Amino acid sequence: MQRRTGWSRRLALRAVLALGVVGCAESFPQTTLLPRGDFARMVDTLFRTTFWWAVAVFVLVEGALLIAIFRFRARPGAPAPKQFHGGTLLEVIWTVIPAFILSMIAVPTVQTIFRTSVSPAAPAVEVEVIGHQWWWEYRYPKLGVVTANELHVPVAQTVALKMWSADVIHSFWFPQVAAKRDVFPSSTNPKAKKYTPLWFTADSTGVYSGQCAEFCGIQHGRMGLRVIVDTPEQFAAWVSRQRVGSPLVNGGKLEPAADSALKADTVIAKGATAFVGAGCIACHAMVGTPLAGQLGMKGPNLSHVGSRLTIAAGMLENTPSNLARWLRDPQSVKQGSLMVLPRSLTEPEIATLVAYLRAHQ
Ligand code: CUA
Repeated sequence: MQRRTGWSRRLALRAVLALGVVGCAESFPQTTLLPRGDFARMVDTLFRTTFWWAVAVFVLVEGALLIAIFRFRARPGAPAPKQFHGGTLLEVIWTVIPAFILSMIAVPTVQTIFRTSVSPAAPAVEVEVIGHQWWWEYRYPKLGVVTANELHVPVAQTVALKMWSADVIHSFWFPQVAAKRDVFPSSTNPKAKKYTPLWFTADSTGVYSGQCAEFCGIQHGRMGLRVIVDTPEQFAAWVSRQRVGSPLVNGGKLEPAADSALKADTVIAKGATAFVGAGCIACHAMVGTPLAGQLGMKGPNLSHVGSRLTIAAGMLENTPSNLARWLRDPQSVKQGSLMVLPRSLTEPEIATLVAYLRAHQ
C-alpha cells in the first residue's frame, strides 16, 4: 500500500511537471488555438462554442451518474427499488435536450461553412497554389511572382488562393491564419482547370507554419510551408525583388541593367556555369540562366532562393551547411524526393553552388 501511494504520487508529480513544461513552451507554430486571421478566428469561435456545449453535457451526464452511484447504491438490508416501465415525460426530455444541443452546434457549423466558402469580391492579392510531391508552388499572376514553399502576403488585406495539384491530392493547412483545404489533381489546361478556393485576411505580421494535411506519399510529413505576413511596405519590397527574372514578367527576360549586374558578379557568373554544368537547370528555373522563363518545371523555381527562410519544403533552415548537405545527398535528407542528382557533385562544385544560391536574394 505504502509503495503504491509513493508510485502514484510520483506519477502525479511528473504529469504536473509535463503540463508545466508544455505550457511554458514559447511558440506554438501550428496551433489552432491562437488565431491570427479571419478564417482561423471563425473556426476557433466554432470550436469554442462546441467545446462549451461538450463541457455542459459532460458535467450534466457525469453529475447524474455520480448522484446515481452514491445516492442510489444498493445497501445491505435495503428493499428492492420500485420497478416501472416506460415514461413519456422522460423520453420527451431526453429527446428534446440533445436535439436542442445539437442544433446549437449545427447552426453555427453550417453558418461557418458558408461564411468561409464565399469568395471575396475584390481580393487584394491572388495566388495560384500548386501542390507537388513534396513542395508548394506559388504564382502571383497579377504581381508577376513565382516562388516556392514560402507564401508572402500583406497584413490586413484579403488574399484569395486558387489551388490545384500537379500530381496527387494534397491539403493546404496553416492553422493560425486559415483552416485546411484539400488540393486536387487537375488538368494543366487552364480552361479545364479545377481549383479549390481559400481566402483569408491575416491580422498580425509574422511567420506562420503550415503543413500538407493529406497523406500524399513517403515525404508527406515533410511537405511543410510557411506563410509570411508582411507589412504592406515589406510586401511591396518583396514583390519588386521577386519580379526580377520572373517567368511571369516579360517571359522571364531580365532587365538589361539587372542582367549586366548579374553577369558582372563573379560568384553569380561562376555559379551559373556550375548550375548548368551540374544539371540543376534540367528541373529548376533560375534567374539569369537560359531557362529562367520556364514555368511548370519539375522542381521549385530557385530565383531569389537566398531570401527564403528554409529549404526542402520547410524542412531545413536555409543555411550554407544545410544547402551543402542537401546538394551532397538529397536522398539521404529527403528519401523519395524527385531531387535525384544525375551525378555526385564535387565539393568545390557544392561550395560554388551554395555561394550562388545564397547570393540570389
Ligand atoms: Cu502533400 Cu501530404
